[in-house]
Amino acid sequence: MPLPKQVKLVEVGPRDGLQNEKQVIETETKVELIHRLADAGLSVIESGSFVSPKWVPQMADSAEVMQAINRADHISYPVLIPNMKGLEAALAVDAKEIAIFGAASESFSQKNINCSIQESLERFHPVCETAMDKDIKIRGYISCVLGCPYEGDISPDAVVEVAEALLQMGCYEISLGDTIGVGTPRKAQQLIDALTEKTPIEKLAVHFHDTYGQALANIYACLELGISTIDSSIAGLGGCPYAAGASGNVATEDVVYMLNGLGIKSGTDLEKLIVTGRHISNSLQRQPASKVSLALSKLS
Ligand code: HMG
Ligand code: MG
Repeated sequence: MPLPKQVKLVEVGPRDGLQNEKQVIETETKVELIHRLADAGLSVIESGSFVSPKWVPQMADSAEVMQAINRADHISYPVLIPNMKGLEAALAVDAKEIAIFGAASESFSQKNINCSIQESLERFHPVCETAMDKDIKIRGYISCVLGCPYEGDISPDAVVEVAEALLQMGCYEISLGDTIGVGTPRKAQQLIDALTEKTPIEKLAVHFHDTYGQALANIYACLELGISTIDSSIAGLGGCPYAAGASGNVATEDVVYMLNGLGIKSGTDLEKLIVTGRHISNSLQRQPASKVSLALSKLS
């Protein structure tokens, strides 16, 4: 199969990236980051999370962030939602897209959202019904699709089961989370093959954390099968506070560099992404975890 000519990038930096930071991040810093990402051409920017502030304090100001950003009509700004309380908070700030998040691993589901996979699906039902009534788009995440920090290997069948449940509830897209970055290209392809027996590939997105340095290879392997939606995080920020050992997502800059080299359009401006990645990294007092950004900084 030929590689796709164009992909959609889902930028998760302001949510997945910043949820794991130890230091307090000012609301203005988050708002500026989202504006810069929009200016760099990203059309989907996950902008916050309406979860319990006791569980994830870094996302406690998501309502303020959503109210402060200048939203462009052509850009979607999804927010993470675990339950009805989260949905109500998202509706109060006029969110137009939400992301519900389940897991293919029972232990991770318990650690992350304090309930079993089945209970989580039951919780998502009313969330999806209400969201659909209000014309809110729903994205579905599945975590631990290629391995779990508590259970080790996860079978593709477990992922297929959760994906079908989320699609039936009304998710327009399923993002496959390699939460702790343990996946390798062949395994990633086997998972996509298992899912596409019943699900059109257009409904699947990949979400690779780069803990073991496999993310770009995994993305390429999935592009070969026709995947055309890729989650990434500016400056490689990211991690899940409830997944031991989870490190950053694949860096948006590195994904765009690879896509540019392959002649695949993403609608983004690599220079602006690099500047944005350096800017947020400076605010967090560290170097960007983007190989491309670091290599170019040594040349300039
Ligand atoms: P719980 O303690 O079982 O919930 O947590 P509860 O219903 O018993 O409520 C406990 C308290 O939380 C109550 O407050 C509720 O009001 C409050 P209290 O009476 O104690 O003052 N509460 C809320 N507050 C604000 N917003 C809400 C909300 N819900 C309850 N929506 C819960 C269950 C799901 C809330 C909790 O476990 C939670 O918030 N977990 C979120 C964990 C999380 O955000 N993890 C990171 C995101 S997932 C991820 O990063 C993976 C991903 O990137 C893909 C991948 O890489 O694999 C997406
Ligand atoms: Mg993630």
